[in-house]
Amino acid sequence: MRPILVTSALPYANGSIHLGHLVEYVQTDIWVRFHKIRGRNCLYFCADDTHGTPIMIRARNEGITPEALVERIYVEHKTDFRDFLIGFDHYHSTNSEENKILSEEIYLANRKAGHIHTASVMQAYCAKDGIFLPDRFIRGSCPSCGALDQYGDSCEVCSATYSPLDLNEARCSLCGTPPEERESEHYFFNLSNFESFLKEWTHSGALQVQMANKLSEWFNEGLKAWDISRDGPYFGFEIPDAPGKYFYVWLDAPVGYMAASWSYFKQHGIEFDRYWRQPDQVEVYHFIGKDILYFHTLFWPAMLKGAGFRTPTGVFAHGFLTVNGQKMSKSRGTFITARSYLQQLDPEYLRYYYAAKLGKGVDDIDLNLDDFIQRVNSDLVGKVVNLASRTAGFIHKHFQGQLSRDYPEDRGLFKLFLDEMKTIAEFYHEREFARAMRAIMNLADHANRYVEEKAPWTLARDNHLKELQETCTVALNLFRLLMVLLHPVLPSMAEKTRVFLNLQDMNWTATLLPITDTVIQPFRPLMQRVDPKKVAAMVAASMEETPPSAHSAPSPVPVLPVATEKRVDEKPSESQTIDMDSFMAVDLRVAKVIQAETVTGADKLLRLVLDVGPLGVRNVLAGIRSAYMPEQLLGRLVVLVANLQPRKMKFGVSEGMVLAAGDGAGGLFLLSADSGAQPGMRIK
Ligand code: 2FM
Ligand code: ZN
Repeated sequence: MRPILVTSALPYANGSIHLGHLVEYVQTDIWVRFHKIRGRNCLYFCADDTHGTPIMIRARNEGITPEALVERIYVEHKTDFRDFLIGFDHYHSTNSEENKILSEEIYLANRKAGHIHTASVMQAYCAKDGIFLPDRFIRGSCPSCGALDQYGDSCEVCSATYSPLDLNEARCSLCGTPPEERESEHYFFNLSNFESFLKEWTHSGALQVQMANKLSEWFNEGLKAWDISRDGPYFGFEIPDAPGKYFYVWLDAPVGYMAASWSYFKQHGIEFDRYWRQPDQVEVYHFIGKDILYFHTLFWPAMLKGAGFRTPTGVFAHGFLTVNGQKMSKSRGTFITARSYLQQLDPEYLRYYYAAKLGKGVDDIDLNLDDFIQRVNSDLVGKVVNLASRTAGFIHKHFQGQLSRDYPEDRGLFKLFLDEMKTIAEFYHEREFARAMRAIMNLADHANRYVEEKAPWTLARDNHLKELQETCTVALNLFRLLMVLLHPVLPSMAEKTRVFLNLQDMNWTATLLPITDTVIQPFRPLMQRVDPKKVAAMVAASMEETPPSAHSAPSPVPVLPVATEKRVDEKPSESQTIDMDSFMAVDLRVAKVIQAETVTGADKLLRLVLDVGPLGVRNVLAGIRSAYMPEQLLGRLVVLVANLQPRKMKFGVSEGMVLAAGDGAGGLFLLSADSGAQPGMRIK
């Protein structure tokens, strides 16, 4: 069988690993371990994804170099992965010599083959910060619906996508300064040159059905050239022959897969080209989240193809994690880092729980904490460990640790387990882990029923010693098979089992004959029950107080940049601190709604006429139509930002903004003054 090379997506080097990330690493690790213990030559690589503006900015904020930041995070990530038993063969960094060499090679080969062109583009530049601003570092109001405080590339209220230069009242999210427009020469990868190749690759079986369908939509929309350059200052690799221009982080990130393997191959005398140039020698699989499909199924195979490298055998996407049915949240304490988890709980609980939830599709998975406690305790402790804990003691007490000389009659259970193993192997191979776990627990139920019916405690009491030894020998043999089956998921418990039963290994390649006539070690608990108090402590420790704020979203003050480069699943909800002067500069006034109406052609907007007392009457276009009928608002006292420059919008001029709370996802709540407040009163 051909060797396999497997990767998980490279985590950004500017934040901690959290339980959302771990879905993917646990999923990949189980798959890799499964192949390894079946004797397949399988290598697993990953690395930190180190380049890009967010990392540069974070280092700047911390007063350190980006190199120092990525070195520190590298150690943190490696430790977290090790402690979650993620068994990479090598964990590398995209900020490495190997990655630089390979990124340049891929770029130059594509350039030579005519797949790169340059074009002049207008870019937002913050003169105060001295950087070109990625779309997500620009905030302003949506050019389409007027919703306030939107990112530079898309509106969360009306879903419009646009260029940051079209935003109204655009400002740098780092410092609040309105960005300038600057012209700059950028490098583009001609993705459309690869259309027919990509269509063919998509239908080669490399993708899950839902993902292949998604690609068809993209093909129908037309493949656009991809901007692969960024202007300095930028933390990344400078583009050959283009001083001051850098590869966009997403160009060198997937090359990190190759770089990680190359670093390993050098140490182990393995030929790089065998893995990356020759199409039929090995299989290459990437595990990713469904949000980065475009990069992995269009840009990445095209770049490889254009540079004469092999393309992936398969790309496996998974869904996102919710906790207790909702998006992970710092205020609810469900944004749990790997470290906060490990401070309270055993990593194998989570590995098992994820396995019990994961299938080969892209559905999101939910970590319900009550169900987590219940499932782990009932399956792993109640069904699996219990099998050993209630039989091993008799073997020591009555037989000096010795199992029966011959394997006894066991009602066909050993054979049943071996037969089922084939189906379970198929489930593992197909990434149908939930089905594998169900099948294994079903076997555990058979084994426990056997023990209950044989009642070794009664056999001991009545001194039926031969039958007692035989019953316990059967139970411990079945326990061993269960642990062999669970080995990819519970590697540490499998190792403890190996020691306990004095076995050579716990691999599936071992001849699985019953173990008999051998002395086993005294039983020590292989796993503790999940303690609900520890789960509660983990949540409490992950809970972050949201600082009280006079203005909830939309916020008239600068907000934090997003933590990642162009990934939409994690957005910050915290505000950056500002000084008192900045706060006092915002003129907040009580205003009374004296007229309210819908705006023809703008299904998100209401036009409000506000009485602001001594400041006169103001016209304001507010993106609140989804939450309010015009007539509900008449006479209401609202909070107006009175000293905003008037803004010209498609539907007229807006003279200020009214404050509302909302997270962009659902509700929208206007802030009001209590009755008695007079229009025009200052809010302090
Ligand atoms: O989305 C992310 O978190 C990226 N850091 C994943 C990169 S995967 C690969 F392309 F490097
Ligand atoms: Zn700025």
